[in-house]
Amino acid sequence: MNKKVVESSSSNRSVTLVDNATGREFTFPVISGSVGPDVIDVRNLYQDTGFFTFDPGYTSTGSCESGITFIDGDEGTLLYRGYPIQELAEHSDFMEVCYLLLYGDLPNAEQKRKFEHDITYHTMLHEQIHKFYDGFRRDSHPMAVMVGVVGALSAFYHDSTDITNPRHRMIASYRMIAKMPTIAAWAYKYAIGQPFVYPRNELKYSENFLHMLFANPCEPYTINPVLARALDRILILHADHEQNASTSTVRLAGSSGANPFACIAAGIASLWGPAHGGANEAVLRMLEEIGDKNRIPEYVKRAKNPDDPFRLMGFGHRVYKNYDPRAKIMRQTCYEVLDELGARDEPLLELAMGLEQVALDDEFFVKKKLYPNVDFYSGIIFKAMGIPLSMFTVLFAVARTVGWVAQWNEMIEDPTQKIGRPRQLYTGATRRDYKLLAQRT
Ligand code: CMC
Repeated sequence: MNKKVVESSSSNRSVTLVDNATGREFTFPVISGSVGPDVIDVRNLYQDTGFFTFDPGYTSTGSCESGITFIDGDEGTLLYRGYPIQELAEHSDFMEVCYLLLYGDLPNAEQKRKFEHDITYHTMLHEQIHKFYDGFRRDSHPMAVMVGVVGALSAFYHDSTDITNPRHRMIASYRMIAKMPTIAAWAYKYAIGQPFVYPRNELKYSENFLHMLFANPCEPYTINPVLARALDRILILHADHEQNASTSTVRLAGSSGANPFACIAAGIASLWGPAHGGANEAVLRMLEEIGDKNRIPEYVKRAKNPDDPFRLMGFGHRVYKNYDPRAKIMRQTCYEVLDELGARDEPLLELAMGLEQVALDDEFFVKKKLYPNVDFYSGIIFKAMGIPLSMFTVLFAVARTVGWVAQWNEMIEDPTQKIGRPRQLYTGATRRDYKLLAQRT
């Protein structure tokens, strides 16, 4: 399904490691991608040397070869299949971006029409899934419901789970992209005790999502085109981000040949954490807790205190050591939405801008290269749109689904793919003999 756009090349360059205990030298090839840092190919390291690498958090490890998304964290660049995120956010729409991520190229008009049609006609859920929601408490976090319901799709769609069959993979991928807004909107409707709203095929993807979130049977719901466009742009910005925690989780789960729907459920679980997708919810909670501009210095001081676990949510990124390009677009979108809703004087926006300025000017944040990330402004937009706090990360999951399935497909098609199985630096007890209970003190 994925077209491999770029092949890596083995240059003549190599890197030699010297074991200074024995004086032995080991040479490893260097591989170049199309852009970005070269990598040292250590696949034979253990076999040739008896050493493993040690890299907790994978800060220096390339786990796979990929032709989908490229990030230059120093420059603040993000490319989907080579296209800058700014150009896609301005000129494209989410369906086109989904096609691009899945197939490697922008669609022509007929390909786009067909793709949108096919996604649209997969948005309904098996009717029995409807009953599945009743098993959850009404006050469940919607991300818990997402993990459960998406995982449960593996029990419903048996005709698309032969992962060696490209057509099965394609159907499973379309199903996940198409059904995610329905599952998400129903998680919300369930929480507030409103009837589930079924998808409407004449609506565009983002319009349909808003419709399923906010319509009810008692009165007509008019879709605001500015909000639909803003949501579409947010989906584009979150669609993929190379080998982040949730994508790596999907790849790792999928590497064993697991059911595709179950792999995406694993990705949702990983996304939920506040260091990853859960940050958009955490940002808004933090802004509400700060409450007043005058308290900004107090919170900045806390963020700088190494003995205080508090962090400024929405700041910092593992890869971006420059302004996150998505945050800039998000900031602009935030103004557009607030203007449309006549809410430009939203106190949280003023607070966010004040906090951003203080952090950008503060030596600690400057030195550590901590800039606002994509999640810093998204919460304010969602709140203005009437989306409740607990749904913020769910929206991220809806958007990221296409990235997960594109990366999952790429992995399955990779002829060098193996089950993911990292090793460890063992620091536990060495071998010891079992003591009978009576001998233990
Ligand atoms: N506030 C205060 N200090 C911070 C922050 C922050 N938000 N982020 C990093 N630091 C400090 C951290 O304490 C560390 O200091 P030191 O070197 O003295 O120990 C240094 O900066 C480097 O941080 P790190 O934790 O080693 O960096 P990381 O690459 O492991 O973590 C991060 C990246 C995004 C998890 C982290 O910056 C963070 O926790 N940010 C807040 C949560 C957040 O906004 N997450 C959303 C990320 S973007 C969307 C997504 O990917 O899902």
